[in-house]
Amino acid sequence: MDDEPSGGTGDGSTPEPDDPDPTADDDSAPAVDPHTQRAAVRDGYDGMAEAYRRERDAAEAPVVGSFLGGLSAGDRLLDAGCGQGTPVLNRLPHGVEGIGVDLSASMLDLARERTDAALVRGDLTRLPVASDAADAVTALHSVIHVPVSEHPAVFSEFARVLRPGGRLYLTAATGDDGWSGANDDWLGSGELMAWSFPGIDRTRDHLREAGFRVTDERVLDDAVADDDGGSWTHLFARLAED
Ligand SMILES: C[S@@+](CC[C@H](N)C(=O)[O-])C[C@H]1O[C@@H](n2cnc3c(N)ncnc32)[C@H](O)[C@@H]1O
Repeated sequence: MDDEPSGGTGDGSTPEPDDPDPTADDDSAPAVDPHTQRAAVRDGYDGMAEAYRRERDAAEAPVVGSFLGGLSAGDRLLDAGCGQGTPVLNRLPHGVEGIGVDLSASMLDLARERTDAALVRGDLTRLPVASDAADAVTALHSVIHVPVSEHPAVFSEFARVLRPGGRLYLTAATGDDGWSGANDDWLGSGELMAWSFPGIDRTRDHLREAGFRVTDERVLDDAVADDDGGSWTHLFARLAED
C-alpha cells in the first residue's frame, strides 16, 4: 500500500502542488464535489487520524520554531486546522496562549494528548473565535483541503480574528497551477482524502485582498513521507495595521 502524503491521482501517485487540475488531464483522479468536500475531509481525518500522526515528520520544525520564537508571553495564537496538535500547539513558548480549531473530532482527540491549548471543533470559513483575538495564526496543510472558491472566506476569517498587524503562517502551492482532486486510500489508511488549492499567485492575491502583506516565502519538502519529493510554499504574511 502506498503512503503518499498528498492524494490526488487516485492511482497511488503523488499530486505535486503545482500539478495541473487533474479533472483536465488526469481521468484517474476521483473528482471532488465542493459541496461534499468538507464532510469528506472531516470523515477522512476522523478515520485516519492516527495514520496521519504517524506519518507527520518534523521537517518544518526549525521554520515553525522561528515563527513561534517571535511570540511573547501573553500573546494568543490560533492554529487553524491544528490536526493532531503538532508541530505548533505542542511547542508554544511559555506564556503564549493557544487555540486549536479543527473539523475532525479524532484529530482534536490526538491534539488533546499533546497540548494544553483550548481545542474547538469548527470550520476555517466560520472560525469560532472572537474578532481581533489573536496575535498570530498558523494554518499548516489545512487551507489546501478547503474548496478554492472558499479560500477568500478563509483568509477573511484569518483577518477578522487577527489583531491589526498580526502575523499569519500558512502553507500553499509551489507553482503557478493549482490542483483539486482526491485519493481514495491516502497513506494506505483506506480513507478518502480531498485537496483543493490554487497556484501560488492566486493565493498571494487572495491574501492581499483580505488585507495581508506577504513578508517571506520558503519552499520546503513535504513534511509527510513522500517518495516523490513534493514541496509546499511556507508563506508568512502580516495583516495591515488598519
Ligand atoms: C494535513 S492535516 C494538518 C494538521 C496540522 N496542521 C499539521 O500541520 O500537521 C489538515 C487538518 O486540517 C483540518 N481541516 C481541513 N479542512 C478544514 C476546515 N474546513 N475547517 C477546519 N479544519 C479543517 C483537517 O481536519 C486536518 O486535521
